Amino acid sequence: MAEEGVDPNKVPQRTLYDGDKIPGVGMGTYGSDRFSAGDIAEAVKGAAAVGYRHFDCAAAYHNEDLIGESLKEILEVLDREELWITSKLWNNSHGKGNVIPACEKSLKDLQLDYLDLYLVHWPFPNHHAPGVSVDSRDPDAEPYIHEHFMETWREMEKLVKKGLVKHIGTSNMTIPKMKLLLRDAEIKPACNEMELHPHFQQPEFFNFCKDNEILPIGFTPIGSPTRPDRDKTENDTVDIEDPVIVKIAEKHKVHPAVICVKWAVQRGQVPIPFSIHRNEYLSNLRCTVEDPLSEEEMKEIAGINKNCRLIKGQVFLWEGANDWRDIWDLDGEITK
Ligand SMILES: NC(=O)c1ccc[n+]([C@@H]2O[C@H](COP(=O)([O-])OP(=O)(O)OC[C@H]3O[C@@H](n4cnc5c(N)ncnc54)[C@H](OP(=O)(O)O)[C@@H]3O)[C@@H](O)[C@H]2O)c1
Repeated sequence: MAEEGVDPNKVPQRTLYDGDKIPGVGMGTYGSDRFSAGDIAEAVKGAAAVGYRHFDCAAAYHNEDLIGESLKEILEVLDREELWITSKLWNNSHGKGNVIPACEKSLKDLQLDYLDLYLVHWPFPNHHAPGVSVDSRDPDAEPYIHEHFMETWREMEKLVKKGLVKHIGTSNMTIPKMKLLLRDAEIKPACNEMELHPHFQQPEFFNFCKDNEILPIGFTPIGSPTRPDRDKTENDTVDIEDPVIVKIAEKHKVHPAVICVKWAVQRGQVPIPFSIHRNEYLSNLRCTVEDPLSEEEMKEIAGINKNCRLIKGQVFLWEGANDWRDIWDLDGEITK
C-alpha cells in the first residue's frame, strides 16, 4: 500500500442481509465522454494502491476490458476476496437467454471468475447508443412491465445459483417497482443503487430500502458536478455550492465534495464517488476514517430542502409517456 494511503481495514463496512460485508465507500468508473477508458483504468490501479477495495463498474461504461487489465495487476498483490467488484446488466441484455451471456462477457472483460454484485442497471430494456442527446428515443422502448422484469430477474437468480455472482441487486428503481420485486423474488436484492446526494436525499426510498434490508448504494454522491451539459437542465442545483455544505467544508478544511462523501457514509448509504485525480480519490477515501461530521452537521445537511434529480433518464422514455417524471412513479403507482 502506498505511504499516504488508507488502511482498508479501517474503512467502514456495511453488512448485507446475508451477513456478507461490503466496503462502505467505492469508486465510480463512469467517465462519460470526459475521460478515456485508459484514464479510468489507471485511476482504478491508483485507487487500489491507496486503499480502495470496492469498484462500481458496468458494461454500459465501455471500459470493463481495460479495468480488467488493472484488476489483473491488482490481483497479483491482493486476494480476490479482498476486493468488491460490482457490474451491471445493460438494458440491451434483458430477458431470457441474454442475461447469462451478458454477465459472462463482463466477467471475461474484468478478468474475474465471479462478481460480488451484479445489478440490473435500469428496470426496463430501453437503451440507446453512448453519448446520444437527451431527445433521442428508442423506438422499441416500453414502460415498466413487471412480467418482463421478472423474466430478467429469474436469470439474475440463476447467476447466483451458478456461482457467477455472489449477490444481485437493482438500480434506478422506485418503491412501487421494488414492492413487486420483493413480492415475487426468490432471491431478493441485496443492494439498490440509487441517486443520493445532499440535494437529492430520497428519504422515503432510502428508508424503504433500509426497512427491507436492502443496502442503498448512492450514485452521483457529489452531485456529479462535471457531468456533460446534455445531462444538465436549467433548474438543476449544485450540491458543492450549497451554503450549508460550503460552511461545513470550511470548518473541516476540506473541499465541499468531501463533505458530501462523509455525509453519505455516516448516513449509512455506500457512496461511489468518481474521480481520476489521485488527490480527490484519496480525499474521498481518507475522509471516511477521520474527522467525522458532528450530529449537528448531519442534521443541518439532512435539513437541506432540495429535491434535484440529476439522472432523469429522458432517453429511456417510451411512446405515450409524458416526460421523464413518468420513469420515477411520483404518484406511487407504476406509470404505464
Ligand atoms: N447506476 C446508475 O445508473 C448510475 C448513474 C450514474 C452514476 N453511477 C455511478 O456513480 C459514479 C459517480 O457518479 P458521477 O461520476 O456522475 O458523479 P460524482 O461522483 O457525484 O461526481 C464526480 C465528479 O466530482 C468531482 N470530484 C470527485 N471527488 C472530488 C473531490 N474530492 N474534490 C473535488 N471534486 C471532486 C470530480 O470532478 P473532476 O473530474 O473535475 O475532478 C468528478 O468528476 C459513476 O462513476 C458510476 O460508477 C451509476
